[in-house]
Amino acid sequence: MYDMDADNMMHTLTSFKDLPTLPVIALEINRLLASDTTSVNNLSRIIAKDQAIVSKLLKLVNSSFFGVRSKVSSVEEAVVRLGFNSVRNVVVSVSIFESLTLAHPEDLGFSLVEFWEHSIAVAVTSRYLSEKTGLQDPDDCFVAGLLHDIGLIVIARCFPESLVNILRKIKERNVSLYDIEKEVLPIRHNKIGEILAKKWQLPSSVCDALKYHHAPNRSAANPELLTLIHLGDVITRRFFITTINPETNSASPVLSSIGASAEKKLDLMYQNVNLWFPGVRETIREACEFFIRHE
Ligand SMILES: [Fe+2]
Ligand SMILES: [Fe+2]
Repeated sequence: MYDMDADNMMHTLTSFKDLPTLPVIALEINRLLASDTTSVNNLSRIIAKDQAIVSKLLKLVNSSFFGVRSKVSSVEEAVVRLGFNSVRNVVVSVSIFESLTLAHPEDLGFSLVEFWEHSIAVAVTSRYLSEKTGLQDPDDCFVAGLLHDIGLIVIARCFPESLVNILRKIKERNVSLYDIEKEVLPIRHNKIGEILAKKWQLPSSVCDALKYHHAPNRSAANPELLTLIHLGDVITRRFFITTINPETNSASPVLSSIGASAEKKLDLMYQNVNLWFPGVRETIREACEFFIRHE
């Protein structure tokens, strides 16, 4: 029995006043990039309006785990070197940590740190998979990985009693969130994440990666990006036990939504995961240090 019906839930989601927002700057950038007629100057000028974002952006692109080889010292340089889309991804990445907060997550039995550690782990792992296979833009993977479970934050804000209910059932039965969620809520965190990403005017490839990350399919705007996030999530859940993922994940990833040669590349990465994941784990640690502990 659901805690509420789908119509009620959707109504609450669309009318809720306290949905997480992106900083104005990030929204402006998303609008600008959707218009297709922007310039380096335009984009740099908008970013420069928010000095806090500028300093975080430069810190991130110059961080050891982000992988730009020589030092980037200005926003213009970042825009030229990384390109419009990657700069948007970086701005969203450094902004969302402020947007996606909860007043008293511990009252719900929910750990925000654990949530972010998982999201960062998926971001780093998916980015690594894309770098190694050349299948997608690594920065797209990073931002989509970072955002893939944001629907959970919305559940915590809009439907806190349902989240408590879900977390209690996870504990009782020792199964993962995705299995329990469908018993409690008619709309799950993946769909909710997509609704929020659309509101934020993120590209449809990212929106669909959020929507389908537990069950990839060909109808996604960009099945490769989706599959990289899905695989990053499956791998991460195999190596880290968390409150919402109390058992290590033994399910095989779904890689069939992409072409045969891409599927082969990802399958090979998956088969060899024990060899390369220790190195990625170290990168995840550095990224957690950057995003969570250095704020
Ligand atoms: Fe998820
Ligand atoms: Fe996840």
